Amino acid sequence: MLESRSREHVEHRVRAGVLEQGTVDLLIAAGVGQRLQREGMRHEGIELRFGGRGHRIDLSALTGGRAITVYGQQEVVKDLIDAAVSAGGQILFDVADVSVHDFDTRAPRVRFRRDGADQELHCDVIAGTDGFHGVCRTAIPAGALTALERTYPFAWLGILAAAPPSHDELIYAYHERGFALFSMRSSEITRLYLQVDPDETVGNWSDASIWRELHRRLETDDGWTLNEGAVLEKGITPMRSFVVEPMQFGRLFLAGDAAHIVPPTGAKGMNLAVADVSVLSRALVAFFRTGQQELLDAYSATCLARVWRAEHFSWWMTSMLHRFPESDAFQHKLQRSQLDYVVSSQAAAASLAENYAGLPLP
Ligand code: DHB
Repeated sequence: MLESRSREHVEHRVRAGVLEQGTVDLLIAAGVGQRLQREGMRHEGIELRFGGRGHRIDLSALTGGRAITVYGQQEVVKDLIDAAVSAGGQILFDVADVSVHDFDTRAPRVRFRRDGADQELHCDVIAGTDGFHGVCRTAIPAGALTALERTYPFAWLGILAAAPPSHDELIYAYHERGFALFSMRSSEITRLYLQVDPDETVGNWSDASIWRELHRRLETDDGWTLNEGAVLEKGITPMRSFVVEPMQFGRLFLAGDAAHIVPPTGAKGMNLAVADVSVLSRALVAFFRTGQQELLDAYSATCLARVWRAEHFSWWMTSMLHRFPESDAFQHKLQRSQLDYVVSSQAAAASLAENYAGLPLP
């Protein structure tokens, strides 16, 4: 495993924080779920908030007992690194100038620089798990992959605040001033997001202006209030949908954000990455134990079925909950009608719930 950042950096980088039921089950089955089971916060519902009031979606009742678990991505990363290192796996941190070669042959190579020295890794297979801006996808010859893409005319401004959560479940708010999301990381830390213009920078937003906007978008008619606290982190998340097909070229297999991006609404990104590596690991075990290549050959098609379901769900949640700059009264009425339907129809709520809590892993 090659990592261009330091161990310290990847173990503290604040990212997503919602694990689907299938992700939790998989991490436990893989033997890396002890701390997750102790510290993760299991949520059996979420709230959709609009028109001055909240509407609970009972994920567990609607899905036969499935739930989500709030546990920071960097905590998952810590647990995985710990397990890999204890099992004798080698992770090289702080490597530079990584490039992938000859992956259209049976002897791919990865070149990199470490401590000032050029090195080369001889491989059977390369897993390109290096994110949207990584080198693996872009090393594949032009024309071999098809990219499918949407961008959105907004971004999210996210903060981490030293404030006890003022509600025990996540709140997705649709408001005429724009979307807002209430989430958390622990009993002392609240995570909050605001829809902002796509070219906004964190420098444009003082802590006071962020809190003012969060209060406006999250407030209800019954006097619910949002707890404030010191802002520990501030960042902007761009919004994009992106998929490459297939997720493989020769002996190079793309997984996670290297192959696909979802907008954050619905919290699917990390869960999709986990699903990809689960499929890939099974295929690699079969390949190395028996030489059988069928599962590796099916890798892309197996993953893409789930990827497209999550692409649709994330696009749908995003479209239902955000204010689009060009939208008119007709569009707003459609969005309100969709929200009213989701919170009043058992069938519509069940569809949201099974996608949100996550369909069974392939
Ligand atoms: C969080 C992020 C999301 O994109 C989401 O839909 C829910 C929660 C979070 O960071 O807690």
